[in-house]
Amino acid sequence: MTNDKHQKLIKEQMEYYSGRASEYDQWFLRQERYDKGELVNARWLKEVASVRTELAALGPVTEVLELACGTGLWTEELLKISSSLTAVDGSAEMITINKSKPGRDKVNFVQANLFEWQAQKKYDLIFFSFWLSHVPPEKFNDFWQMVKESLTPNGQVFFIDSLYTQESTAFNQKLRGKKDTIVSRVLNDGTEFEIVKVFYDPDQLQKDLKNLGWNVNVLKSGKYFLYGGGGVI
Ligand SMILES: C[S@@+](CC[C@H](N)C(=O)[O-])C[C@H]1O[C@@H](n2cnc3c(N)ncnc32)[C@H](O)[C@@H]1O
Repeated sequence: MTNDKHQKLIKEQMEYYSGRASEYDQWFLRQERYDKGELVNARWLKEVASVRTELAALGPVTEVLELACGTGLWTEELLKISSSLTAVDGSAEMITINKSKPGRDKVNFVQANLFEWQAQKKYDLIFFSFWLSHVPPEKFNDFWQMVKESLTPNGQVFFIDSLYTQESTAFNQKLRGKKDTIVSRVLNDGTEFEIVKVFYDPDQLQKDLKNLGWNVNVLKSGKYFLYGGGGVI
């Protein structure tokens, strides 16, 4: 893919999430077009709870960095385990919603494009949820290098992302093939965008990270999420 095409995708992805900010939590809370019925919703929430427990077990942590914090569904969890929290996102709309939630006066918010941003200090924990899947595969190595450079010597990473299943997405959005990394997404008003969405196989991701010098365990919570934690080898 040419650099121009990359830049266009990254820009469109940022615009998509700004447009989606006010409706984003519907996806996580299984509401409206993401409501797949009681049983599926209950299973989703159970898996969310199990990943929350894994994250909570990392605390207490001094300096925490959250990348692509969005509306703050996980900022809330990070606040419980950190002494100092910096949260970065490219969308002013996402940050405004996140800031409006309780306890956010303690968070240092930064609005920046993560493909251009560099940390000004080192962090003990770097967290990102549902972000790695939006990093174009061609930028995977650079992204992990940026994370490595932003960690303290014994620092750790924790990330969460989507497993490939039609149950996660909205009724009116069909997943493409598992290997397709560009997907079409629509907002509630029907506006359409093209964004990056990579579905990682946990074992393969763990191996790829090992090749980049990471000792990270990547696991499945069940049907919906993968999560990984660890540090530099
Ligand atoms: C799928 S959401 C995840 C939000 C949050 N981490 C969560 O789990 O709820 C992806 C987030 O990435 C942000 N984002 C998209 N492209 C970005 C970029 N180039 N730089 C920084 N943030 C970006 C969006 O604004 C959005 O908040």
